[in-house]
Amino acid sequence: MDAKPQIQAKPFLRVLDGKANAPPPLWLMRQAGRYLPEYREIRAKAPSFLDFCYTPALATEATLQPIRRFGFDAAILFSDILVVPDALGQKVSFELGEGPRLEPILSCEDFAKLNERIDLMRLAPVFETVERVAASLPNETALIGFCGAPWTVASYMIAGRGTPDQAPARLFAYRQPDLFQLLIDRLVAASIEYLLRQIEAGVEAVQIFDTWAGVLPAAEFERWCVEPIRAIVAGLKRKGQGVRVIGFPKGVGHRLQEFARRTGVDALGLDSSVDPAWAAENLDQRLVLQGNLDPLALVAGGAALEASARRILSAFKARPYIFNLGHGILPETPLEHVARLVDLVRQGSAA
Ligand code: CP3
Repeated sequence: MDAKPQIQAKPFLRVLDGKANAPPPLWLMRQAGRYLPEYREIRAKAPSFLDFCYTPALATEATLQPIRRFGFDAAILFSDILVVPDALGQKVSFELGEGPRLEPILSCEDFAKLNERIDLMRLAPVFETVERVAASLPNETALIGFCGAPWTVASYMIAGRGTPDQAPARLFAYRQPDLFQLLIDRLVAASIEYLLRQIEAGVEAVQIFDTWAGVLPAAEFERWCVEPIRAIVAGLKRKGQGVRVIGFPKGVGHRLQEFARRTGVDALGLDSSVDPAWAAENLDQRLVLQGNLDPLALVAGGAALEASARRILSAFKARPYIFNLGHGILPETPLEHVARLVDLVRQGSAA
């Protein structure tokens, strides 16, 4: 009597495979992090943020903390998109309260210093973290791996830091397109190897973060955002049929449909500027959608949170859809607001 049909037991994966679910599964970008007191406590145990990411016991704990507290439907590996430049041999550090610092790549000579292939040995602690998390998650909770998209990662490698508009990388790409292409190609190959190894270690889906896609004009968007992500998706799918990919091209507006069609991603992360009703109506029905509550509505709470969440839930109720924010959760987010959001989504009160 135990001969159950092969039904996917994890709601998050069921939806990624194209089946609508009520209530929708839920996780939050940057769900592990500084808004959690238990994160701040363990974060203090490592001398630097990269050391923290490379210590499996700490990274595993950080990945599991939001699952224990809120019971999200998916955990996301605790790491950072900038471990890829680190494993390509670029100097990467995180200054307290100031964000990432990298030794900028400005010339052919700088580029020539990078490793030709990603050093997966250096990232061994990340894969160990994946194995540890996979072994300790509840049965119904999925595990997401990730990397930054080549354009977004390259933009930090060139500027050496976060900037308001990634102007240094945009200028570099205009002035030295051939060299920039080599950097992008290097990142495409590195990302495929890195994600395949995460999948081998136990992640069940991967998200590609293109945080800075929205600053690119049409031709550059095609060349530096769409084409590299298409190549990564193709590289992953060549190796494994069941690989599920979520693309998150932030800020690209009306180009979302083209992005999804051309890259071949299975699911599309929407940022908060996208109108949910427009997206539900206009984006390909086979595409799984994810998003897109404004992180500031979650900070504000109250009526703004209720109205925004209900509007999103109602727009997407007939589609395969995953509830999320439109960008990462902010450190100042009150825990009670997150708890309230989880209730709102789970009660399915989208009337
Ligand atoms: O919970 C999760 O989502 C998993 C972990 C995760 C982190 N960064 C942890 C982190 C993920 C998926 C990322 C992605 C990431 N990292 C992106 C793409 C998504 C986005 O938010 O736009 C980008 C652009 C980065 C690069 C990065 N890492 C920046 C610009 C910063 C500094 C800004 C900040 O928020 O502090 C980081 C540091 C970072 N990455 C922290 C965390 C929890 C904070 C560092 C700390 O705790 O001391």
